[in-house]
Amino acid sequence: MKSAILAILATLALGAAASAHALTAAEYQAGLAAAAKAAEPAFAGFSAQRGEAFYRSTHGGDWSCATCHTDSPTQSGSHAVTRKAVKPLAPTANPERFTRADKIEKWFKRNCNDVLKRECTPREQGDFIAYLLSVK
Ligand code: HEC
Repeated sequence: MKSAILAILATLALGAAASAHALTAAEYQAGLAAAAKAAEPAFAGFSAQRGEAFYRSTHGGDWSCATCHTDSPTQSGSHAVTRKAVKPLAPTANPERFTRADKIEKWFKRNCNDVLKRECTPREQGDFIAYLLSVK
């Protein structure tokens, strides 16, 4: 009985450690892969090439992701309207990127609505991250 309680406590401690630890882009992407598979049964993995095309496209509007995040996601950019500096998006250049789920979700939502006038799909988000992880 005592050992069962200890085992449960150990599991809880591990769970707490896991939720406190900073996320990585690859971990966030793994969650997107599950969502993409659920949305599109034919989903066969993310593509950095598709992600780059997505990054550079204006999707029929005025802005692309590159408008504020620059042609190269390893560079600092600036906001198209406010001119406020935006640090590099690529995790190689900015290790803080894709380490906080709340921040990632907030900005995907806002920026996808600004650029595509809708939310990005899980596949689009995963392709986008695949591209950011591919740039050195
Ligand atoms: C109008 C300017 C603008 C455009 C266009 C834009 N972004 Fe951003 N983006 C920002 C700003 C500002 C931030 C938040 C400041 C920061 O984190 O440096 C940000 C942050 C992000 C983040 C947060 C990443 C993290 O973990 O810190 C993601 C994801 C993101 N943008 C995705 C996109 C995608 C996808 C597109 C294209 C569909 C896009 N952005 C287009 C301005 C823009």
